[in-house]
Amino acid sequence: MTNQQFSSRNHAATYVQGRLSPPSELIDTVLDYLREGCKPNENGLWPIAVDVGAGSGQSTFLLKDHFTNILGVDISEAQIDEANKRNQFSNISFKVSPAESIPVEDNSVSLVTASQCVHWFDLPKFYQELDRMLVPGGVFAAIFYTASPIKTTEDAKMNQLAEVVEKAFDDLTDMGLWDQRVIDLYHSYYTDLPSPFNTNVKHDFICPISYSCENYLNYIKSWSGYNKLAEKDPEKAKLFIDNIIEKLKSILGTEDVLPVQIQVVYKFFLAMSRK
Ligand SMILES: C[S@@+](CC[C@H](N)C(=O)[O-])C[C@H]1O[C@@H](n2cnc3c(N)ncnc32)[C@H](O)[C@@H]1O
Repeated sequence: MTNQQFSSRNHAATYVQGRLSPPSELIDTVLDYLREGCKPNENGLWPIAVDVGAGSGQSTFLLKDHFTNILGVDISEAQIDEANKRNQFSNISFKVSPAESIPVEDNSVSLVTASQCVHWFDLPKFYQELDRMLVPGGVFAAIFYTASPIKTTEDAKMNQLAEVVEKAFDDLTDMGLWDQRVIDLYHSYYTDLPSPFNTNVKHDFICPISYSCENYLNYIKSWSGYNKLAEKDPEKAKLFIDNIIEKLKSILGTEDVLPVQIQVVYKFFLAMSRK
């Protein structure tokens, strides 16, 4: 099914400010697994990686030191435009392309990553595409993270901040604004994702993230569910955000809440499969 959820320019611009990149331990874990089945050259580089559903490069840029060429593809032209604006690396390029038909040669790619996006793909077609492009021993890494920060036992304020995002997600659910594929993702975190190949491994990572409150809000504004609300009823969307700002003011005890730096903790999930 074609995905129009990330096609607006405003949405893509907010996305850059609010979205998370995977932690460096996660990328190291992917590279260690790749190394087991597929050796890099004498300079420690593999030839090609493809980041699918790349958004504005949240995972793509993390691969820059490990591959001779990295291609980020996304079905949304607006996301690819933002990725190109951010791109300062000669070995990284971005193209508009669906996950189900990627412009690379057969048997040419060592690593394919897909972060927080596999739920949008036509999975059987995407898995055929994976099989076509990956070299033997090549790896597919699917990455996901929790919709809201996780609650820690020891920090009451962090827990309250996490609850604000949890409640925002639930309110959008009650308004019927989430695509069922997103609801399914956040119920399972794709622990039940079918594997494309027979050799598989899973890991998870606890990841502290530092944010300004403004970007904490941008994270919520980057959600497809919130963007549906903003399109359907801009006034209601404004009230939705104003209400969240009021909660943040009360938790953090200040009126000038947007520049305040906060730290929260997300959980990342990694499911890898080797061809
Ligand atoms: C939640 S965003 C994830 C972006 C980025 N990977 C990240 O980690 O933030 C999902 C992305 O998948 C893209 N997408 C959805 N369906 C797609 C498809 N069939 N082929 C390629 N990209 C797709 C969307 O345009 C969007 O940019």
